[in-house]
Amino acid sequence: MNDSVSYDTLIPNNVNLSSDRRLQRALEDWQPKFINWWRGSGPSDFLDREVYLRTAVGVESGKWAKFDFVKMPEYRWGILLAPQEEDRTIPFGEHKGEPVWQDVPGEYRGLLRRLLVIQGDTEPASVEQQRFLGHMAPSLFDMRNVFQVNVEEGRHLWAMVYLLHKYFGRDGREEAEMLLKRTSGNEDRPRILGAFNEQTPDWLSFFMFTSFTDRDGKMQLESLAQSGFDPLSRTCRFMVTEEGHHMFVGKSGVERILDRTCHMMNEAGVNDPADVGRIRDLKVMDLPMLQRKMNFHFSVTLDLFGSEISTNAANAFNSGIKGRFQETKIDDDHQLHNDSYPVMVLKDDKFSMEDVPAITALNARLIDDYIADCQTVVDAWNAVIMRHNIDFELVLPHRSFNRQQGMFTGAYVSPGGILLNEATWRAKQYDFLPSNEDLEYILSLMKPMTEPGKFAPWISPPKNGVGGKPGDFEYVRIAA
Ligand SMILES: [Fe+2]
Ligand SMILES: [Fe+2]
Repeated sequence: MNDSVSYDTLIPNNVNLSSDRRLQRALEDWQPKFINWWRGSGPSDFLDREVYLRTAVGVESGKWAKFDFVKMPEYRWGILLAPQEEDRTIPFGEHKGEPVWQDVPGEYRGLLRRLLVIQGDTEPASVEQQRFLGHMAPSLFDMRNVFQVNVEEGRHLWAMVYLLHKYFGRDGREEAEMLLKRTSGNEDRPRILGAFNEQTPDWLSFFMFTSFTDRDGKMQLESLAQSGFDPLSRTCRFMVTEEGHHMFVGKSGVERILDRTCHMMNEAGVNDPADVGRIRDLKVMDLPMLQRKMNFHFSVTLDLFGSEISTNAANAFNSGIKGRFQETKIDDDHQLHNDSYPVMVLKDDKFSMEDVPAITALNARLIDDYIADCQTVVDAWNAVIMRHNIDFELVLPHRSFNRQQGMFTGAYVSPGGILLNEATWRAKQYDFLPSNEDLEYILSLMKPMTEPGKFAPWISPPKNGVGGKPGDFEYVRIAA
């Protein structure tokens, strides 16, 4: 099949949109509403500036993107699906081995629509959360990166809207409208999931969000990429490609912060990471505060996975709609009729492992896979601290810490996994989670740096530039 993207139309696509006039008209009707939303809720200002952005121009690995200067509202958002695999069969669930569906099976219509809407809602939400970051970017390189993440989240919204429009008729069109009407943090019409109504008020929050919350996005997309509904699978496979960069921005952003903090501590002869007063005098981010920020973002993100033990997840799996992370690489029958899975539970004030039917423990399993993935990130961060010979280790908090969803809701547990009573927990709250003072300190550092090649004093330059350009390249033509 031909995977090239047609760019001569209003909506770039590789789904032969022009052959379906009704769909094309419906999407062309939605497009100006999207642009309107972008102008009102997307990045604040900088809309008339040229930004050195990556645009997807194909879906083949290795040569799928090109870099060029674009004004964000003129970005070529489009509909891109990974190539169709010939003779693909449903990899799991009760339809395992049957040919994949090219249309929505009637009995799973409601389930699929709900999954698309929940995934779709997170995409514009994150753009809304990040809309003020351009004003306090630590460099033009970083400013370009947040805008890149933003336009690609916009494209992910397009991806879900395409599926809703094409396969769900009038209901789908209504849901697509609603995706532009809910707003992150809005009291009357908030975004669907909690973490997507939190603020991303500063760059540390952004780097933590892209490290942890975009990584949840990856886990969800990888599970949906297994779907027996082939258009969803192909859509998600391509979205995962773009997601890689978002997580890289987060992981490398925190690495650069750690590098700068440790470097300045060594230069000033401050050995004790807890000597916060002196470290903050250096205008860098102290390590205990980075730990608290991580505790916050990690725990809030775990809440996105839903209940650890879940019949909804079991249904989605049985139906062949949502699989496990790397389903096809798992060595079992992919139906889970008789399998069990060990799940951590809190019973009689003690944590223990309990074997439960694997089919009900799919969310718990996805959380395990997610935590393992996060641990590799934290290991890389600790390697930076170690390189500077500073005696401090970042540690992922316990999965039951600070949870508002799932089986640990309401438990008072320290980040280290010690069960506390409420009073003790509250008394130590600001050892565990960022205080207002922390957040104000972070904000006080957020002075923009817009000179090409210069970086704010709290973060080191990146090892490499982006899109084949050096670090001191003028990634955003700021003086219009
Ligand atoms: Fe996304
Ligand atoms: Fe993302």
